Amino acid sequence: MSKYKASEDRYEKMQYRRCGKSGIKLPLLSLGLWHNFGDKDDFENARNILKTAFNNGITHFDLANNYGPPYGSAERNFGKIFAEDFKQYRDELIISTKAGWDMWPGPYGNFGSRKYLIASLDQSLKRMGLDYVDIFYHHRPDPETSLEETMGALDHIVKQGKALYVGISQYSAKDTAKAASILREQKTPFLIHQPRYNMMDRWVEDGLLNTLDHEGIGSIVFSPLEQGILTDKYLNGIPGDSRAATKGSYLDETQITPEVITKVRRLNEIAQSRNQSLAQMAVAWLLKDKRVTSVLVGVSKVSQLEDNIKTIQNLNFNKNELEKIEEILQNK
Ligand SMILES: NC(=O)c1ccc[n+]([C@@H]2O[C@H](COP(=O)([O-])OP(=O)(O)OC[C@H]3O[C@@H](n4cnc5c(N)ncnc54)[C@H](OP(=O)(O)O)[C@@H]3O)[C@@H](O)[C@H]2O)c1
Repeated sequence: MSKYKASEDRYEKMQYRRCGKSGIKLPLLSLGLWHNFGDKDDFENARNILKTAFNNGITHFDLANNYGPPYGSAERNFGKIFAEDFKQYRDELIISTKAGWDMWPGPYGNFGSRKYLIASLDQSLKRMGLDYVDIFYHHRPDPETSLEETMGALDHIVKQGKALYVGISQYSAKDTAKAASILREQKTPFLIHQPRYNMMDRWVEDGLLNTLDHEGIGSIVFSPLEQGILTDKYLNGIPGDSRAATKGSYLDETQITPEVITKVRRLNEIAQSRNQSLAQMAVAWLLKDKRVTSVLVGVSKVSQLEDNIKTIQNLNFNKNELEKIEEILQNK
């Protein structure tokens, strides 16, 4: 029996936004378990991050089959914490997982076949100790498998009762519209798209957000802080415990160029004038677009999550601030 009792006022601390035209509302900030929940990470730190999230009204935890390292370990560690602390709150949580990237050897452990997706979700449910997930995603487009097959697999999974809703990630606007049409025909509940979006990577503004709005589908945007670049952490060099200093991560020191840091420093000054951290301003900047349902942050420390959650205290921008930000970014 868990000793964890969630803060009673957790729902007063967060704001929620409707996900497209669905019945689901998501917190403005959600928590991703891509990093910091694997076997090489500190288990108690991971547990404290999850508790801090839920204590602040973050009801959505996002996983994938291959989060770790090693692959599968984030789901396994989440499963242990879930069993000990969160089981009693299952109906207050939206838990998602995905398949689409490489997971096991051979031709059936990658991309978008019916065989891969159905087997992978069964494995994920076992690792997490869950009967079902709330959202199951196809993690990336598969250029060789028909959308009919991949969307058919998502439909089957919902009919099996193993996922309540489905989503897709990293799909173009065009493929999203095609997927939506197939899923509509099948009457599969297509809840959400998970694209990469932040101040420095704005591809979604070029059609995808319009398509989602038109189709009544929500969005949850990943790497909102450009993996940490859009914070003040790299302003004075590369801290030894940062993602950029971690071997095998998708961020390396060569991406943190003097040109990037010049922009970040100028953005940081605007954030300071708003009495916000840069991380908070970067999250608020994404949420100013109501087509963004939720911002999916990753954190390595409880203090980072607490910092990011304070974003909701100041979500508004004036015209002057927005113009200054555009002048710095030069990427519209
Ligand atoms: N669908 C997909 O293909 C896909 C791909 C990638 C991610 N995702 C999802 O999106 C989630 C978030 O992605 P992400 O981890 O790249 O997001 P992110 O929020 O852009 O970056 C997270 C990193 O930024 C740093 N950070 C966060 N808050 C901070 C703060 N307040 N002050 C200073 N540093 C801070 C931490 O880095 P340090 O480790 O340096 O402390 C943290 O690990 C993932 O967990 C996953 O669920 C999905």
